[in-house]
Amino acid sequence: MKKYLVTGAAGFIGANFVKYMLSKYDDIFIVILDKLTYAGNLGTIKNEIEDKRVEFVLGDICDKEAVSEIFAKYDIDYVVNFAAESHVDRSITNPQLFLETNILGTQNMLECAKQSWMTGKDASGYPTYKQGKKYLQVSTDEVYGSLTKDYEEPVELEIADEEVKVVVKGRDNLKTYGDSYFTEDTPLDPRSPYSASKTGADLIVRAYSETYKMPINITRCSNNYGPYHFPEKLIPLIIKNILEGKKLPVYGKGENVRDWLYVEDHAKAIDMVLNKGREGEVYNIGGFNEETNINIVKLIIDTITRIMNEEPSYRSVLKVPVEMINYDLITYVGDRLGHDMRYAIDPSKTAKELGWYPETPFTEGIEKTIRWNLENQQWVEEVASGDYQKYYESMYKNR
Ligand SMILES: NC(=O)c1ccc[n+]([C@@H]2O[C@H](COP(=O)([O-])OP(=O)(O)OC[C@H]3O[C@@H](n4cnc5c(N)ncnc54)[C@H](O)[C@@H]3O)[C@@H](O)[C@H]2O)c1
Repeated sequence: MKKYLVTGAAGFIGANFVKYMLSKYDDIFIVILDKLTYAGNLGTIKNEIEDKRVEFVLGDICDKEAVSEIFAKYDIDYVVNFAAESHVDRSITNPQLFLETNILGTQNMLECAKQSWMTGKDASGYPTYKQGKKYLQVSTDEVYGSLTKDYEEPVELEIADEEVKVVVKGRDNLKTYGDSYFTEDTPLDPRSPYSASKTGADLIVRAYSETYKMPINITRCSNNYGPYHFPEKLIPLIIKNILEGKKLPVYGKGENVRDWLYVEDHAKAIDMVLNKGREGEVYNIGGFNEETNINIVKLIIDTITRIMNEEPSYRSVLKVPVEMINYDLITYVGDRLGHDMRYAIDPSKTAKELGWYPETPFTEGIEKTIRWNLENQQWVEEVASGDYQKYYESMYKNR
C-alpha cells in the first residue's frame, strides 16, 4: 500500500487531489499536513478526514520537528507538496510570507524527506535512497514569466503532432492569442513575488535532485478552476458577486490571457507523474485553453443567466432579481502591479510521455463549477466568513 504525505490539502487543488485519489484507489493511505491558513478549510475535506485511509495533521511545512515526526511515524512513499501561499495580490502586499512558506517550507519538506529516505552513500558520495520514493513539487506556469499577446482577436490553434492532439480530443474552435508557449525548457523568468517564490522553490527542488540525487518531479500547471475554489480568485469571486448582485471587478481592460484547466484534470496529471514520470523531470500541465479575463467574466454571466432561466428553482440562491444579472455589473479597476499579459502551456511532453489529456472541456467545466457553487452556498459562506475556524475547533479541540 502506497503512503502519501499531501501538504496543503485543505486548500483548493490539494483537496481535489485527495478526493480524486481516494475515489480512484482503495489501497492507499494519505497523511494530510495543513496549517489551515485563511485558504485552508477543513470543511472542504470533512468526509475525507473521517475516512480510515486518511490522517489529518495540523502543522506547518516550515516546522522541521512536525514534518520529521510524520516521516518517523509513517513510511511515506510519495510527498506531494501543494502547501503554499498562492494568491498573487496577497504576495504584492506581503512578499516575505511567500518566501518563508513557499521557499523555506519546500526546503524543509525536501530535507525531512531526504533524511527519512536515505539508506547510505554510493562510491561517489551521493546519497542512496529506499526504493519507490518520490517527492513531487506542485508548481505553476507563472515561473516562466509572461508571454506576448500577439493577437487582439484569437486565431485558430493548430496542433501538428498527432500524439499531442489527444490533449484537445473532442474539442472544436481551438484558439490562441499568441505564437509562443511555455515548454519545460522555457527559461524561468518570474515577475511577481508569488511567482518568484515558486521559482525559488523549483530551483531548490532541482538542487536536491542534482546535489543529493533525490527522486523528484516538478509539475507546472496553468490556472485551475472547479469546486472548492476560494472566492478570492477570479472565477469563484465572479460567481459569488453575480449571485449577490455586486459589481464584478476586472483588472485593467480585462485583456490578460490565462490558460484554464479543470482541477480534476490537474489531479489526474499529478497521479500520472507520480507513477510514470521520469525521475528528475519537469512536466507542464495545461490543456491549450486560453481565454481573456473579460471573456471569462462574460461567459460566467451568460451561463448563470441561462441556468436561472432554464431552471428557475436556482433563483432562490440569487440575492437580486435575475434581470439585474448582465454585463452592466462589470467594472474595470486599476490594473494589478506587474500584471503578466499571457500564460499558455505547451503540455506536449506530458501528453506524449505519460498519455495525459484533460477530460473536461472548458464550457462543460465552467458549467459544472457554477452549478457546484449554486448547490454549495453554505461552503462559500463559511470560507468567506471564516466560520471554518469554528468548524475546526468543534471538530478537533477536544480530541
Ligand atoms: N490555483 C491555481 O490555479 C494553481 C495553478 C498552478 C499551481 N498552483 C499551485 O498549487 C498549489 C495549491 O494551490 P491552491 O490554489 O490549492 O492553493 P490554496 O491557497 O487554495 O491552498 C493552499 C493550502 O496550503 C495551506 N498552507 C499554506 N501555508 C502552509 C504552511 N506553511 N504549512 C502547511 N500548509 C500551509 C493552506 O492552509 C491551504 O490549505 C500551490 O503550490 C500553488 O502554487 C496553483
